[in-house]
Amino acid sequence: MKNVHVIDHPVIQTKLTELRDFATDHRKFRALLNEIASLMVYEVTRDWPTRPRPIQTPLERMTGEVLANQVTLVPILRAGLGMADGVLRMLPDARLGHLGVYRDEKTLEPVSYYQKLPPDIAASEVLLIDPMLATGGSGSAAVSCLKKAGVLHMKFICLVAVPEGIQLFHSHHPEVPIYCAAIDRELNEHGYILPGIGDAGDRLFGT
Ligand code: PRP
Ligand code: URA
Repeated sequence: MKNVHVIDHPVIQTKLTELRDFATDHRKFRALLNEIASLMVYEVTRDWPTRPRPIQTPLERMTGEVLANQVTLVPILRAGLGMADGVLRMLPDARLGHLGVYRDEKTLEPVSYYQKLPPDIAASEVLLIDPMLATGGSGSAAVSCLKKAGVLHMKFICLVAVPEGIQLFHSHHPEVPIYCAAIDRELNEHGYILPGIGDAGDRLFGT
């Protein structure tokens, strides 16, 4: 699939399998979700530009490389919060924006209810995070909010996606890359991903 990156690293796959397991409680689920998010950062940021930075080592002067642009992390509430600490562990200088989107249980349409973004977000590299890309409605609505805020460079990171969600997301935003740890089979009649991980927010927060 175009502009979709499946990060099938064996360590990530091991953690994803543990996380999917129904026997995994919310404490372990939280830990695994953050660990996977941390590991995914390496692959997601691989093509980010760097700029030279002169430093003094204990022995001599040299010019190293550091990330060129400011980074803003934007979790989609609620479940995206479950990946935020993991990403911040790797990118501790990142700022955090928040987008509240839930999907209506009956229509499965996204409902946006909250938005708080750094005022100068347009100039930064944005990582939009949410564990699930199901119908694709929530992710797509979140990208539209970011575009309205002027964001030019963004990537969408999720744990599990399905082909129909990827298709809808890319029908609106073909230029936004999707990074995931797995592409699952399909959605059931209630819009849940099969085999999936269940309701990510409920498993994360114990609701
Ligand atoms: C979940 C998930 C995504 C959305 C994906 O959120 O975290 O945001 O569903 O589904 P979609 O691709 O069909 O839009 P949910 O609506 O359950 O809200 P919550 O995180 O507040 O529980
Ligand atoms: N949202 C979830 O949390 N899980 C799914 O399987 C689909 C949407």
